[in-house]
Order: sequence, then structure tokens, then C-alpha cells
Amino acid sequence: MASIAAVAAESAEATLNSCLVCHGDAARAALPNVPALGAQPFDYLTIQLYMFREKMRTVEPMTAMLAGMKDDDLKRLAAAIVKLPAPAPNSEPADAARIERAKALVVQHRCNFCHNRDYSGQQNVPRLAGQREDYLLKALRDYKSNARRGYDATMDDVLYPLTDADFQDLAHFLSRQR
Ligand code: HEC
Ligand code: HEC
Repeated sequence: MASIAAVAAESAEATLNSCLVCHGDAARAALPNVPALGAQPFDYLTIQLYMFREKMRTVEPMTAMLAGMKDDDLKRLAAAIVKLPAPAPNSEPADAARIERAKALVVQHRCNFCHNRDYSGQQNVPRLAGQREDYLLKALRDYKSNARRGYDATMDDVLYPLTDADFQDLAHFLSRQR
């Protein structure tokens, strides 16, 4: 049994290597608009991989990559991703006024409740800290325009009162959190 599990783990890690060409890791930066995966919670990853495969979250390359994989394959991939280190935060200079506006927004809209005080995520709620700024902005816009369907309606409700200017400030701030 031990050896079978070891082979499966090894093949998940080999598959993951082809994923990191787009998603990046400690050695490679993620491509524009492609999220870094390191340190995302296991449950969030498993649910999103399932949603890509089932075309509930439609992203061409992701659906193609996961076609034909079984639920256990998705779980093994998620388990391999969890071991990747958290992404390094955005080191571009921060705009103090935008950071202040974002800090008020995260308290008012409780981003730091569900996503954790340090934005590290938990269970089905993703990590936001150190995520790419362009991807964060795209994700917020996609929820708002319904281009992206969440597993539930949580983010649609949260973002309802927020504007695109708010999204830009939030992405600016969150990408710089460690
Ligand atoms: C050709 C580039 C490409 C490859 C290869 C690729 N992905 Fe993706 N992946 C994307 C893009 C683009 C998105 C996000 C799209 C969006 O929602 O805007 C994404 C999103 C994801 C997400 C969601 C992350 C989040 O924060 O919501 C996960 C998890 C993921 N990919 C895992 C994988 C795995 C595992 C593999 C390998 C089996 C893989 N990807 C291969 C381009 C790629
Ligand atoms: C009530 C809980 C809750 C609150 C409050 C909340 N979120 Fe979320 N957030 C979630 C959940 C759950 C998801 C995953 C939804 C899905 O399946 O796509 C998510 C997803 C996201 C994503 C997608 C990340 C990725 O990797 O694709 C971003 C960005 C995000 N939230 C930002 C925010 C911001 C900014 C705020 C505050 C304005 C906020 N969230 C408030 C629960 C919450």
C-alpha cells in the first residue's frame, strides 16, 4: 500500500510541474492574469479544480488540463499544491492613499473575517495575501460581471456595493500582504 501511495504522490508532483509553467513557483513568476497557487487551502483548491473540470468555472486551459481526471486525481493535485510555498508579495512601491482606502474597505466589508486576518484563507475561502495584483483585480471584476461563478453566491453578495475603483485599491493592497 505504501508504495502505491508513493507512486501516486510522485505522479501528482510530476503533473504539477506542467501546471507551474503558467502558475509559477519560487523559481518562476506566474504569467499575467494567472494566479499563484502556493499555500492555497486544500478545500478551496479541490472545489475549484472540480468546478473547472465540470465547466462550472470556465477557463479554457484549465478545463483542458483536467479533462478525464478522477476526483482522487484532483485531490492528489490539491495535496501537492498545498505544499508549495506562499507567493512572495508584490514588491513594487505602494501608494499610501490607496493602501489607506483599502484598509477601510477590508474592515467595512469583512474581507479579513472570511479570508482570515492575515488573508491566508481557510477551508473553501482562498488565500489573497501576495496574490498577483492583476489576477486579484480580474477575479473581482469577473465575480461582479458574472463571468466567474463562485461555488456559492458569497462573493456576489459581498461585492454588490463595491465599485471598480474599490477593486483596484483592494488588489493593490492585498497583493502586497505577506
Ligand atoms: C496554459 C496556462 C495554464 C496551465 C498549464 C494551467 N493553468 Fe491553472 N489557471 C490558468 C488560468 C489562466 C487560471 C485563472 C483564470 C481566471 O479565473 O481568470 C487558472 C486557475 C487555476 C486555479 C484557481 C486558482 C485560484 O486562485 O482560484 C487552480 C487551482 C489551477 N489553475 C490549477 C492548475 C493545475 C493543477 C494545473 C495543472 C494540472 C494548471 N492549473 C495548469 C492557466 C493555466
Ligand atoms: C462571507 C465570507 C467572505 C467575505 C466577507 C469575503 N470573501 Fe472573498 N471569497 C469568499 C469565498 C467563499 C470565495 C471563493 C468563492 C468561489 O468559489 O469562487 C472567495 C473568493 C475571493 C477571491 C478570489 C480569489 C482567487 O484566488 O481566485 C477574491 C479576490 C476575494 N474573494 C476577495 C475578497 C475581498 C476583496 C473581500 C472584501 C471586499 C472579500 N473577498 C470578502 C468568501 C468571502
